[in-house]
Order: sequence, then C-alpha cells, then structure tokens
Amino acid sequence: MKAKQKVAIVTGAAMGYKRGGSSIGGAVAIQLAKDGYKVVVVDKLRTGERTVELIKEAGGDAIFIRSDVTSTKAVKEIMSITKAKFGGLTCLVSCVARYSSGMAKSVAEISEDEWNTTLAVNLGGYFKCAKYAIPLMLKSGGGSIVNISSYASFASMPNFSVYSVAKGAIDAMTRSIAIDFAPKIRCNSICPGFVRIENSENGRTRKELKEWYGRIAKQYPMKRVAEVEEIANVVSFLVGDKASYINGQSIVVDGGKSVYDFHEF
Ligand SMILES: NC(=O)c1ccc[n+]([C@@H]2O[C@H](COP(=O)([O-])OP(=O)(O)OC[C@H]3O[C@@H](n4cnc5c(N)ncnc54)[C@H](O)[C@@H]3O)[C@@H](O)[C@H]2O)c1
Repeated sequence: MKAKQKVAIVTGAAMGYKRGGSSIGGAVAIQLAKDGYKVVVVDKLRTGERTVELIKEAGGDAIFIRSDVTSTKAVKEIMSITKAKFGGLTCLVSCVARYSSGMAKSVAEISEDEWNTTLAVNLGGYFKCAKYAIPLMLKSGGGSIVNISSYASFASMPNFSVYSVAKGAIDAMTRSIAIDFAPKIRCNSICPGFVRIENSENGRTRKELKEWYGRIAKQYPMKRVAEVEEIANVVSFLVGDKASYINGQSIVVDGGKSVYDFHEF
C-alpha cells in the first residue's frame, strides 16, 4: 500500500432488508466513510447496495460485495477485491448474525444442525474474516479490528444458547488476536444491549412497536433502547487514533443495564 490510506471492510453492513432502514453494520459503514475510510460493504443481502448509495450521497467512497462470510472462497475473494480496488486494508468490523426460530432454543432443545449452522455464521464468519484480513492488514502497515459481540456474552437471554456461546467465543477470539498481533493490529469487541434495528421489527404495527420498545426500555436505566449510531460512534472511536492504547477489550454499550441491581433495600 502506498500512502497510509484508510480502508475498512464492514461485514453484515446491509441496510434493513424490507425498507432499507437502520442496521448496526450499515451505521458503522456510514460512520467509517465519514471518518475518511474507503469502505467495503459486505453482506449476503442486496440491501448492501443501499448502504453504498447512502455513503456516496454523503460524499464518501464505498463498494458492495454480496457475499457469504461462511465460505472460505468468498472471504478470500473479499480480500483480493479490497486489495485490487483500494490497495490494502487497515480496518475490519465484523457484524454478521444469523437468527432463526430453530436456533432460539436451549442446549437441550436445539438441533445439532441448527447449533452448527449458527456457529458457522455467528462465530465462523468472524474467524474467517479475521483470518484472511490479518495478512492483508499486516502488509498494509497494520490497523484495527472490531468484532460486534453482544451483552449476551455475559448474560444469556432464555433459550438463546448458541447465540450467547458464539458471542462469548468472539470475545475470547478478540483477546487472542489482540495479543498475537499487537502492536501492528489492535482488536476489540463491542457488546451492545438492545439496539433498535429494522430487521427485528418483524412486521409489527407502529402501535405494537411503541409498546414493544417501551417494555424493553423499562429494563434500561436510560429508559430507552440504543440507536444504531450509538454503536457506530463507539466503533469509530475504537478503530481511531484516540483509542491507540485500547486492545483486547470488550466494551459494553448498554446504557448501564448490566450494572443495574433491581433488589430493594
Ligand atoms: N440489534 C441488537 O439489539 C443487537 C444487540 C447486541 C448485538 N447485536 C449484534 O449486532 C450485529 C448486527 O446484527 P443485528 O442484530 O443488528 O441484525 P441485522 O439483521 O441488522 O444484521 C445482521 C446482518 O448480517 C447479515 N448476514 C447474516 N449472515 C450472513 C452471512 N453468512 N454472510 C454475510 N452476511 C450475513 C444479514 O444479512 C444482516 O444484514 C450482530 O453481530 C448482532 O449479534 C445486535
């Protein structure tokens, strides 16, 4: 890489699949473009095109690669396209997640197939992108990785076993990468609480959404759920020079929910 150009890959960065609405990966890609990164938007959904449109409308530079991060061949292609188009890589943000009714089960109830398929995306997708991004980042002079984990790494939702397992492993992998590749590459994760995104609204009416978000908000000291930009802002900080000594950390972004004790005195 010639100049120290800022180039980021963001996986899971499509906008919402129905109306092109809010998504964490989309907000991250848009924020990094504002920070001066050339952005490679990766997602298996076509609405990754919408993320690129939004970045370009705001004067940024981005391309969309429609791809499946569980495929080694596809992930290698993402790296070669990034190198060919932008000359190198200085930032990776992994943000994919697979949800299905079959994976939302306890350890005793989930099928082995759902367990393995979910881990292949929610953990394997993070592993493969890191594995094939790191050599390119090293050749490009180093950089920063942020894995989007979840507060589920520390406290499980009922019947969401494999999701929590993947998030716990992502945080452990984050620490491994952090010590193996410092000082050239820093690696951290972000553990959000509930974040408002289009894809989880699931056809609820406006009234149902208000009630649903209201019920969830009551569990949060901030009395509201997080907006996607509030996660993207933390990514922007972590990958930037102002976080130059933060490495191997899992930053909880949950409005204080995890430090809230409900007991009466
Ligand atoms: N929304 C929340 O409340 C919340 C809370 C904590 C953590 N997170 C994490 O945020 C990240 C973003 O997810 P989200 O929950 O906001 O949902 P989302 O549906 O908006 O984003 C997930 C994206 O991953 C893409 N994806 C799934 N499998 C893929 C694959 N094999 N290859 C390429 N792309 C694939 C999907 O198409 C989707 O665009 C995930 O890591 C999730 O675990 C979300």
